[in-house]
Amino acid sequence: TGGTVVNATGTAQADVLVDGEAIAAVLAPGSQLLGVDLARTVDRVIDASGRLVIPGGIDAHTHMELPFGGTNASDTFETGTRAAAWGGTTSIIDFAVQRYGERVEDGLAAWHAKAAGNCAVDYGFHQIIGGVDEFSLKAMDSLIDEGITSFKLFMAYPGVFYSDDAQILKAMQKSAETGLLTMMHAENGPAIDVLAEQLYSAGKTGPYWHGIARAWQLEEEATHRAIMIADVTGAPLYVVHVSAQQAVAQIAAARDRGRNVFGETCPQYLYLSLEDQLGARSEEWGDFEGAKWVCSTPLRSRAEGHQDAMWQGLRTNDLQMVSTDHCPFCMKEQKELGRGDFRAIPNGIGSIEHRMDLLYQGVVTGRLTPPRWVEITSTTPARMFGLYGRKGVLQPGADADIVIYDPNGHTSIGVGEGRSHHMAMDHSAWEGFEVDGHVDQVLSRGAVIVDERGYHGAKGHGRFLKRDLSQYLI
Ligand code: URP
Ligand code: ZN
Ligand code: ZN
Repeated sequence: TGGTVVNATGTAQADVLVDGEAIAAVLAPGSQLLGVDLARTVDRVIDASGRLVIPGGIDAHTHMELPFGGTNASDTFETGTRAAAWGGTTSIIDFAVQRYGERVEDGLAAWHAKAAGNCAVDYGFHQIIGGVDEFSLKAMDSLIDEGITSFKLFMAYPGVFYSDDAQILKAMQKSAETGLLTMMHAENGPAIDVLAEQLYSAGKTGPYWHGIARAWQLEEEATHRAIMIADVTGAPLYVVHVSAQQAVAQIAAARDRGRNVFGETCPQYLYLSLEDQLGARSEEWGDFEGAKWVCSTPLRSRAEGHQDAMWQGLRTNDLQMVSTDHCPFCMKEQKELGRGDFRAIPNGIGSIEHRMDLLYQGVVTGRLTPPRWVEITSTTPARMFGLYGRKGVLQPGADADIVIYDPNGHTSIGVGEGRSHHMAMDHSAWEGFEVDGHVDQVLSRGAVIVDERGYHGAKGHGRFLKRDLSQYLI
């Protein structure tokens, strides 16, 4: 009661009536329902006055326990979804992995086994197709029945997950035929690997060179190529973790031609830069400190204006949403595998806990309205990935996934006492970030899982989300 309800469509002073796991009504403040004074009748009243009441965040790009770079992403489904809950994210969509030579069904079953009974919040899967061949193409026919309505291909990482243009074309034909949404990691991996080898051989071995090898031209080129192959096949295309302004321009141009082409960016591409990484030093790690920010696509130059371009893309809707690409690795025993050779640093940043707070800073700085904040972090992810109605909106019939957000609160991000960090990492890529705003309470299907007193969730509360086809395509 007493809060400001924010949906993607606008804001209103309203009370939200929860019955069991679902929202029963969104009502004018203090109203009666069928002549009954609600405040006297309900089991429990949560005072939200002075706060924003929003649909729970949906992080549509996470990698719990991903085997990568000779190690595994450090958050399990248990620790990662608990951190999500702390940060106001009540649904995740993780990437089940099929590797080359493996059956898609087996990759998917392995992911179900990791997640089932361990999640604090609801979870769905996309399917990574790491090897496009006649068997995986056939297996893709069954994904929709499994509630998996999107798959990811990689133009990067030759020898790990890579698809060449012929494979991409065939998988996109399957996408067009079935309605599965194609998600693309758009970087020219073979060219990047040559540049990386040349840099390494020239003695340029530190973390910063990761971003130099992964030049924006090779993101622009791959984005363009993906868009054109999608165009030929009629597949809808969602480009993940966009960081180069030239890639946004490619997406914008395709959209202007009326294509079902979409782009996601991540908090790191809005706030962090290659220059920050170049200057990073610590007593403990020396200039290997920069390994904390090794991710792909890489952080880009602030001088070149990429971060401003990401904000602008969110403003013009050429980028429709923000996910984290949460792929955490500790410095000790994980990132440090690449000491002396940046190519061996496991790629990834952990941000699942901070996405709602970091994007709220867009509201504080006047770059986003409150409804747009909700739209890019919850409503569009729900529509894009077939969860809308159940998730992504505060309306009757929706799951009671609700965040009570204090716009006058404060959050200190980072590791240690008084800081917000709950991810299974020995550092934070966001250490020292101060946020105007605070996640006060989090409800997942009607259960209060976070409040001022702490975490009250439980592993196994989170359920698998069978998703519908994308509700965002035209
Ligand atoms: O650096 C990243 N993004 N690691 C996760 C794997 C991927 O490409 O999304
Ligand atoms: Zn990727
Ligand atoms: Zn990813």
